[in-house]
Amino acid sequence: MFVRIGAFFVGLAFVGVTLFSLITGVIAYVTTPAEENVAETFHLHPRTFDVSSNGPFGTFDRRQLQRGFQVYKEVCAGCHSLNYVAFRDLAALGYDEAEVKAIASQWQIEVPDINPDTGEPSTRKPTPADRFPSPYANEVAARSANNNALPPDLSLIVEAREDGSDYIYSLLTGYRNPATFRNEKGQTLPADLRPGNGLHFNPYFHNLNIAMPPPITADGQVTYADGTKSTVDQMAKDVSAFLIWTAEPKLENRHRTGWAAMIFLSIATLLGYLAYRNVWRDQKAKPVAYTGTMKPENREKRDEASREAGLNT
Ligand code: HEC
Repeated sequence: MFVRIGAFFVGLAFVGVTLFSLITGVIAYVTTPAEENVAETFHLHPRTFDVSSNGPFGTFDRRQLQRGFQVYKEVCAGCHSLNYVAFRDLAALGYDEAEVKAIASQWQIEVPDINPDTGEPSTRKPTPADRFPSPYANEVAARSANNNALPPDLSLIVEAREDGSDYIYSLLTGYRNPATFRNEKGQTLPADLRPGNGLHFNPYFHNLNIAMPPPITADGQVTYADGTKSTVDQMAKDVSAFLIWTAEPKLENRHRTGWAAMIFLSIATLLGYLAYRNVWRDQKAKPVAYTGTMKPENREKRDEASREAGLNT
């Protein structure tokens, strides 16, 4: 008995507290005006770019992925690792075994290892089984080389940022001159939002100033093996497309499985409907019709009721 009453009051207290916080929350939301964040008025929303892996039928453009890989290799790998991608995974981009081996053995950055004779930490050339290494021995070394910012691993960066590859593309092509930049309202950047030492103004970055120096700066910075003209825009698109692949190498399978499931479900729905029609076929053939006849005992009752009500039947 007491337990029940106690439980009731505990429940009541919970409801009370919840209601109280809801009501005070709503009041605060309605009465306090949204804070005007100056940085936000200078922030730009990512521009979209067309890539063949978009949409429910999307597939990878292998030549573009190879170009994107080339940009990663020649530009980004100097600071960023791909910890979830192994050299041998490049086979999916159309490189054969010998090419993958050559890419691994000629990689500029070595992977950490242990000297078999002395047991001392050492480094060696990567093999196809290794992941794309970071150029820094550890986080402290990475930060000290980058103005205390950490170049993130890029394997999953497309999944880790809102607007994914559009954001990467916009960020790479989004560096602006802070002195001449104007936002939509034509305002110039206030002094306290100008980049500090070692920072670079980029209105696509969340706080406008990023520690990464502009990585892609000039047309022709990479000489594409397939002869495509390497404009800044093209290189930014290609490396973004490549990073879609590193984040989701099985994207094409997912698209295919999705369509197989849709087709299967459509057929199953159709069969279910036909089965339903078949089961109820006989029942529906017998319409229920009003025949107009009344049971004699009910007729009696009706007449009596009519008489009582003074109706003439
Ligand atoms: C000189 C070193 C360097 C190079 C080269 C470099 N980056 Fe970076 N990158 C950084 C640093 C440092 C950060 C962290 C910036 C920060 O947090 O302010 C960063 C951050 C990033 C981010 C994350 C931004 C965010 O929203 O947090 C992406 C994406 C990125 N780099 C992509 C690339 C790509 C793609 C390339 C090659 C085209 C590249 N980077 C080349 C140093 C580099």
